[in-house]
Amino acid sequence: MGKRDFLSANDLTRTECQALLDTAIRMKSGDYSDRPLAGQTLALIFAKSSTRTRVSFEVGARQLGASALFLSTNDIQLGRGEPIRDTARVLSRYVDGIMIRTFAQQDVEELAQYADIPIINGLTDLLHPCQLLADLLTVQEAFGTLDGRVVAWIGDGNNMANSWIEAAGLFGFELRLACPEGYQPNRAIYEANARRTRLLITKDPGEAVAGAHVVNTDVWASMGQESEAEARRQAFAGYCIDDALLAGAASDAIVLHCLPAHRGEEITEAVLEGPRSRVWDEAENRLHAQKALMAMLMGNR
Ligand code: CP
Ligand code: NVA
Repeated sequence: MGKRDFLSANDLTRTECQALLDTAIRMKSGDYSDRPLAGQTLALIFAKSSTRTRVSFEVGARQLGASALFLSTNDIQLGRGEPIRDTARVLSRYVDGIMIRTFAQQDVEELAQYADIPIINGLTDLLHPCQLLADLLTVQEAFGTLDGRVVAWIGDGNNMANSWIEAAGLFGFELRLACPEGYQPNRAIYEANARRTRLLITKDPGEAVAGAHVVNTDVWASMGQESEAEARRQAFAGYCIDDALLAGAASDAIVLHCLPAHRGEEITEAVLEGPRSRVWDEAENRLHAQKALMAMLMGNR
């Protein structure tokens, strides 16, 4: 039987992604006691820090009957230069699936190419598709559907922004991104999806947020960009989600942030802790979305 990977949102069809979200909702409701991963092991390779991704995959794997193996690249030979393709073939002989968080998307693709078990992208510099699933689940819970929603992205055109562009293309909703010059999303991803749905890139956060149902942001300096933090603070001045910006959104708009957040930079304390914020549900939804993903890729193999 062939294996399936989840390296980007485009590894799912719209129908599959919707089915995954529906499964996640069922899992969250408690109406799910299957153990489709019984007896399996999921390896979790981390070259960057994590709270939500690590814990949601570890706990989720256990709830589905699997064990999880945390592998920091500080400890495994990959971190000392053992090739990805060798790591892929060796781990394929021990475990039943691998989630990897690293820098280059190409490394995740190489892992998938050489492994004969499912590979899950737990964040690269380019994409964060697992977080996207949790975000889509949060929007579906808030509005019942993704259809007809208008989504605004404020700030860095980073891995989360790129994943949201892929989601807009997949589901066909309108996405408006407000990013400063020089910090726009990946051009190839933008162009591919601009042919599939309504995408707007602007420098004006107010234009992006006008009437939007979902207002979403992320840190200005992602993991690996720590040395750019000060330059980025200057470039992103004015790209903070605050109450004044939110006043232009739809009256029932929700605010998302994948976390960790930098209060006072990309989002104010008042918005993060305020009535429109869905960030804690969004964080919880990592667990349900990741479980539905593991069940889809690894279930009953
Ligand atoms: N949102 C997210 O991926 O969080 P972690 O970095 O804590 O995994
Ligand atoms: N864009 C952030 C997301 C963290 C979950 C980063 O890559 O650090």
